[in-house]
Parts: sequence; structure tokens; C-alpha cells
Amino acid sequence: MSNEPFAARLLAWFDKHGRTDLPWQHDPTPYRVWVSEVMLQQTQVVTVIPYYLRFLARFPTLAALADAALDEVLAHWSGLGYYSRARHLHRAAQLIRDRHQGQFPAQLEEVMALPGIGRSTAGAILALALQQRHPILDGNVKRVLCRHHALEGWPGAPAVEKQLWQLAEALTPHQRVAAYTQAIMDLGATLCTRSRPRCEQCPLHEDCRARATGAASRFPQPKPRKALPIRTTTLLLVIDEAGELLLEQRPPTGIWGGLWSLPELSADATPEEWSDKQQLLLRAHHSHAPFRHTFSHFHLDITPLELRVCVASGDAVMEPAGRVWYKPSAIEQLGLPAPVRRMLEQLTPTMRNHQ
Ligand code: ADE
Repeated sequence: MSNEPFAARLLAWFDKHGRTDLPWQHDPTPYRVWVSEVMLQQTQVVTVIPYYLRFLARFPTLAALADAALDEVLAHWSGLGYYSRARHLHRAAQLIRDRHQGQFPAQLEEVMALPGIGRSTAGAILALALQQRHPILDGNVKRVLCRHHALEGWPGAPAVEKQLWQLAEALTPHQRVAAYTQAIMDLGATLCTRSRPRCEQCPLHEDCRARATGAASRFPQPKPRKALPIRTTTLLLVIDEAGELLLEQRPPTGIWGGLWSLPELSADATPEEWSDKQQLLLRAHHSHAPFRHTFSHFHLDITPLELRVCVASGDAVMEPAGRVWYKPSAIEQLGLPAPVRRMLEQLTPTMRNHQ
């Protein structure tokens, strides 16, 4: 099977499983296909269908659209969102009326020059409506190709996008180009989906390199994130003679607001100063290896600092509000921030050994 060309396998699958009675597939004139492709740019097929039918009932021809008032076009778009699509559609219809004698242009460059139509949409319209051989590269197709070739990198990066266009061009067949164009979009929309690709059913699975890695859904790779700023902090593992751990409730705002956590040592304070202030006698202290927790907007490098203390004074000690001594074995019940909980799980066995 896999020595059959890519397009042949995709077309055989399409003949069995592809969608062939979507409204824009009946009488696929450039105008009807164009409207459908623009509606489908950011919207799923099931959502588009009723809008498409109402739109075509009101604006059955390019001339009807060009001559309509923009407000009425927008009213028929209302609910689909991304209204610049409707404004561009209307403006492009007027340009075609005024500059192309009302005939939808049949040259790729002319189609791409119209507002709201990029290279992929232009290729799709000419392939689907006029059987012209042009590659397409919408989000679905990018995903299929990135996976089939296990392409590294984010598909929005110019170098990756260039490679994808070359692949798309090379794979587009000379026969049955309309069916192929619909087929590759359908494959991306139905089997080669973003999060749970159904690889067992895919006609391309035998030579799909992403599938061979065992993790098809790792492709396409995400947009690289900007480097996050790094903040540092020291969290105190304060342990008394009974082996209990001091926990503090965090202030209501800021990270981990209101949660129980470990006390934080400010950058300009020493363990001795901190202990004095808390009326604790410091017996010993030592640092553990720092570890990183990543928030959405910064990395937090946390150094755990273990303090062995005696609770000072023989008075009946009143703990300040928001402070509590806890047996390390009982901390699971508290709603601690996840990285603090993980850190305690790792460090409390060593803490017990020190007792
Ligand atoms: N998304 C964009 N164009 C499409 C089409 N013609 N069929 C299905 N999904 C699409």
C-alpha cells in the first residue's frame, strides 16, 4: 500500500470516506466555493452550513453580493464572527464587478490580489471550482504534512512554512486535483486532528514519520515561547525539636494567594535575623538543591533552606495567626501549592533522617 503515491492513497480514502455533499460541493462555481472557503477560514463545517445556505439564498451571485449594502452583508454574517471576512468579501465582489467585468478571476495572482484571499484560499478556490492544479496550505494541511514528514519547528516560522509549501506543491497530483484538495482538508479535519489523531484509520499511516515516533500529536510543534524572566526565592523548611514543620498562610494577593505554604526568606535577610524575629532559636541550617517552578509569566527558582530551631521561651506560646506547626506526615491534607507539596515529598524523608 505505502508504495502507492501519497495522493493515490488519499484519493482512495476520499472515495470511501470523504465528504461529498456539503452545500458548496453542489454546483461548485468560483463564487460559491469562494464564499464557503472564506466562511471556513476560522469556523467549522457544521457551524458554517446554515450561514452558508442563508447567505447564498440572499446573495446567489457575485453581482448580487457586489450590489448589496454592506450592512445587509454583515447582517447575514452576524454570528460567524471575524467580521473583516465579510467586509473583505463584499469589497472583493465590488472589485470583481468593477475590474474583472463581473467574472471571478481565473489566475492565481489575480485571485490572491483580492482582499481577504491568501495563497492557500486562492489555490483552494481555483482547484475546487476550476480544477486548476495549485497546492493549498491551511491549518489542517500544515498539520497533515508536518506529521507525515515529522517536520521539526513551528509551521508559522518562515523557513518551515517554505518547506511546507514545497511539500504541498510536490504532493499535489495532476489528476483529480479538486478531489485531492478536498481530501487533504477532510483528512486533517476528521482523522489527523490536533489532539487525538486516529492513526489506525489513516490512509497515510504506513509512511507517516510522526506516527513512527509513537507520538503523532507532538507535531506540528508549537510556537516557541519567549524566554521567561527568572525570579528567585528561598523557602524555609523550619523544623522544631519535635520534627514539626512551620507553615504560613500566604497573603491574599500575589502568587499562591491565601494558600498555606512555607515561610519565605527575603533576599536581604539572613536565617539568623529571620529566626530572631520569629522568636525561634536557630540551632543549624543548610540549603538543599534549588529547583525551578514555571508560572505562565516567569520561572521561579526556589532554594529550600532547612532551619533547625527550638521554640523559644517556656511561656504558653501563642502562635501568631496564619502560622502553624505541622507533622510532615500530615501535610498532604493541606491545600499546599503543587511545587511546595512536591518539594516536601522529596525532602521530608531526608528531614526525618536528620531527626
Ligand atoms: N476548511 C477550509 N476549507 C474547507 C473545505 N472545503 N472543506 C472542509 N473544511 C474546510
